[in-house]
Amino acid sequence: MTHGISNQLTLTINGELVCLKNADPTRTLLEYLRHSDRLGTKEGCGDGDCGACTVALIGKGADGKPHYQAVNSCLIPLGAIADREVITVEGVANGQLHPVQTAMVDLGGSQCGYCTPGFIVSLFAAYYDRTLDDMAIEGNLCRCTGYLPIRRAAQQVAAQLSNISDTFSYALEQAAVDLTPVNYGNGDRQFYRPVQLVEVFTLLHQHPNATLVAGATDLGLELSWHRQQYPVMISLEAVAELQILEQTAESVEIGAAVPLSHIEATLHGVFPSLDEMLHWFAARQVRNRATLGGNIGTASPIGDLPPVLLSLDATLRLANATGSRVLPLADFFKGYRQTDLQPGEVIVSIGIPKAIAPGAVRRLSQSYKIGKRGTDDISIVAAAFTIDVDDRNQILHARLAYGGVAAIPARAIAVEQFLIGKPWNIATVQQSKPLLEEAFTPLSDLRGSADYRQRLIVNLFEKFFVEMDSVTRDSVEVQA
Ligand SMILES: Cc1cc2nc3c(=O)[nH]c(=O)nc-3n(C[C@H](O)[C@H](O)[C@H](O)COP(=O)(O)OP(=O)(O)OC[C@H]3O[C@@H](n4cnc5c(N)ncnc54)[C@H](O)[C@@H]3O)c2cc1C
Ligand code: FES
Ligand code: FES
Repeated sequence: MTHGISNQLTLTINGELVCLKNADPTRTLLEYLRHSDRLGTKEGCGDGDCGACTVALIGKGADGKPHYQAVNSCLIPLGAIADREVITVEGVANGQLHPVQTAMVDLGGSQCGYCTPGFIVSLFAAYYDRTLDDMAIEGNLCRCTGYLPIRRAAQQVAAQLSNISDTFSYALEQAAVDLTPVNYGNGDRQFYRPVQLVEVFTLLHQHPNATLVAGATDLGLELSWHRQQYPVMISLEAVAELQILEQTAESVEIGAAVPLSHIEATLHGVFPSLDEMLHWFAARQVRNRATLGGNIGTASPIGDLPPVLLSLDATLRLANATGSRVLPLADFFKGYRQTDLQPGEVIVSIGIPKAIAPGAVRRLSQSYKIGKRGTDDISIVAAAFTIDVDDRNQILHARLAYGGVAAIPARAIAVEQFLIGKPWNIATVQQSKPLLEEAFTPLSDLRGSADYRQRLIVNLFEKFFVEMDSVTRDSVEVQA
């Protein structure tokens, strides 16, 4: 695999082929753009939070076709852009203003203009997907115009959308979607993008200290702020085995490197608690890159998806050069930022069973995220609950999983056991409160006090009961 290493990275920016010799593949795309005088793309936060650096990448959508995908250029290492097409704000006009630019001008969507390139590119990408709604710009912050004129601009373009036929739609039709292998080295730094799992193992054998990277929405923060050096990076985003998304009547198998936006689109309606958490997970630009493997791989106690997966009894398929094993996610997290992942092992996929408990007639399942703001924020506490009941409303199966309340995402197992065999009613929920209060010992930090978290642990479960109860009553009334 280390044969055929090239010191040249090529990418296409606004239709122009760019060849970079001896570039640092861990430099962010934003840094490269700004140092190469493409100053339209702005740097606001360098953290993926503000959207000023948004560019569009052509990439494979959940439907397998090429799409423009808005991403944060401040988080993406150059190596990950090899052989890919990037559209920056400079490329959007193409001789005349793009309809999204015209609408922003007409409706006064810009004042100081610093955030505007990011909004334009987010709207540009949504234009070709015909998804010009608030979600298209949820990852873009504006501090002076106010959002109303920008939303009006988006609504105006959406209202006027008919057949799209322009150079950008043509470019999409012509675009290749499958990522090519990359073997890049410049003496100091190496960046690999293998396309098969076996190649990942070979590379890990050759470079035991290499860093795995998927969407880079976590690692990208280290790159953006130059906090860490990564001499050898192995990108997982082109590995076929990590890109599967398969559904049967019994279960769902999600490749570890599938972007969250694909999961959102493909599995919508299958697991309500997953739908809900994905809705509040970061913002569009991050979800276009972030993966489940990365969310689990960081082993963050405040990762939002592990509680959901724990509440659904998810399993992980882990593999190394000698074989693979399946491990319940509940056994994966060992301690603060520690996992059961062995050297040379990668997370290949995540399995989620669909079946409800034997004898159960109904599953109640939902997730909750409490942060300081709705969109694009880290959780103070995240929780996900699954309750299966029989035809007498007795609890047959219970999962209460939390993030942000312990060193690892964890289940309240004593409470789950207490609930089995009890009727699913408010009295049972009240009786479970003392046990829930003892289940975790949360810490205080900048986001919330230990006391606040402790209250959330209990109150979110109560909220779950109240919400599920009202849904059940509504559906009974509709049937009646
Ligand atoms: C603005 C912003 C908002 C965010 N909001 C949220 C949020 O709301 N909720 C939340 O939970 N997180 C959030 N995050 C964090 C991040 O987006 C998620 O953790 C994401 O799922 C990471 O996925 P990734 O593919 O980008 O991981 P990467 O950054 O590529 O990798 C993260 C870690 O996982 C390891 N890894 C990746 N894939 C594998 C694999 N297959 N096997 C083994 N190890 C692997 C990597 O080596 C690395 O250590 C946010 C980040 C940003 C920048
Ligand atoms: S600079 Fe703020 S999201 Fe990239
Ligand atoms: S126009 Fe000034 S920050 Fe948005």
